[in-house]
Amino acid sequence: MNGMLDDPVVRARTVPLTAEVEREHVTRSEDERAALIERIKGLLERENAVLVAHYYTDPEIQALADETGGTVSDSLEMARFGSAHPAQTLVVAGVRFMGETAKILNPEKRVLMPTLEATCSLDLGCPADEFAAFCDQYPDRTVVVYANTSAAVKARADWVVTSSIALDVVEYLDDRGEKILWAPDRHLGRYIERETGADMVMWQGSCIVHDEFRARELHKLKAAYPEAGVLVHPESPADVIEMADVVGSTTQLIRGARELPNDTFIVATDRGIFHKMQQAAPGKRFIDAPTGGAGATCRSCAHCPWMAMNALDNLANTLEFGHNEVTVPEDIRVEALRSVQRMVDFASESRVQVHGTGNA
Ligand code: 13P
Ligand code: SF4
Repeated sequence: MNGMLDDPVVRARTVPLTAEVEREHVTRSEDERAALIERIKGLLERENAVLVAHYYTDPEIQALADETGGTVSDSLEMARFGSAHPAQTLVVAGVRFMGETAKILNPEKRVLMPTLEATCSLDLGCPADEFAAFCDQYPDRTVVVYANTSAAVKARADWVVTSSIALDVVEYLDDRGEKILWAPDRHLGRYIERETGADMVMWQGSCIVHDEFRARELHKLKAAYPEAGVLVHPESPADVIEMADVVGSTTQLIRGARELPNDTFIVATDRGIFHKMQQAAPGKRFIDAPTGGAGATCRSCAHCPWMAMNALDNLANTLEFGHNEVTVPEDIRVEALRSVQRMVDFASESRVQVHGTGNA
């Protein structure tokens, strides 16, 4: 491997090409599609399974989760919902860390995913051994990691957070005089540091989707739609976050779309979220925040290539054959449970609002 690819962040950014070509593209008639959906509904019942989907998955998967008593939600609510639901099998339509978090919290349940290949650039860019060495340099700091990490990284952490709860947790720790080691998303880390004034050292990871949003182009778009509200996920660059009317988790952005008075919104997050935004705020108009820009050789589609790997076909096969079961080695799971459970407990104690299925 060449020297550049030894860098975890560079390596993480090269992988989506592989992920994209692995996506199954199947053309089928309306009747075939309806039959497949009915088959999945039957399999969910047969397997005593519930579908736990993220807002970035395809609208047809989100609709299936809604119709079958599952949830469509952000990563914190996905974790909470899976634990609270009585089903013996959780089918997590999202990316790998979401399936692992479900398993960490629910060792007695079977956790399946449509594909185990669906990962995340933040997870890939933060290998557990390199992260442990980084932590060793700062033994006096409280280690706070974003949920978009492997179980092994969570096992090394004191706290796990998602974007809906990160500010509250760091504020709480800062009030107690604790210094923070934050990983892996540098943009979310900077945003929290600026908002809380906490003393933070940071791992330099990023999300390949959100990192592509461009403030210069956003200014131009905003000039064309001066009345538009700007909704930004905090994995986006700082100068994009600065332009936001709402900065927050996917659920918080959907709530912003519904509650702000604007009729038009420019949205800096994965475009899969438009499905729920349209349901939450019918009649409003949603526009993708720009990526790339003049002179760019390539424009991002603002869609996570790994989320896009979740499809009806692999979902049906997973349920039919019990493929793609998520496993976490027990010693790692037990260690990771400490930091994940802290997040879940903090959320319920502080009553941070967690909702799914567009009821943001
Ligand atoms: P949320 O927890 O806000 O849904 O974010 C998950 C994620 O992966 C965003 O890219
Ligand atoms: Fe990871 Fe970015 Fe995909 Fe979210 S959108 S799962 S942060 S690569």
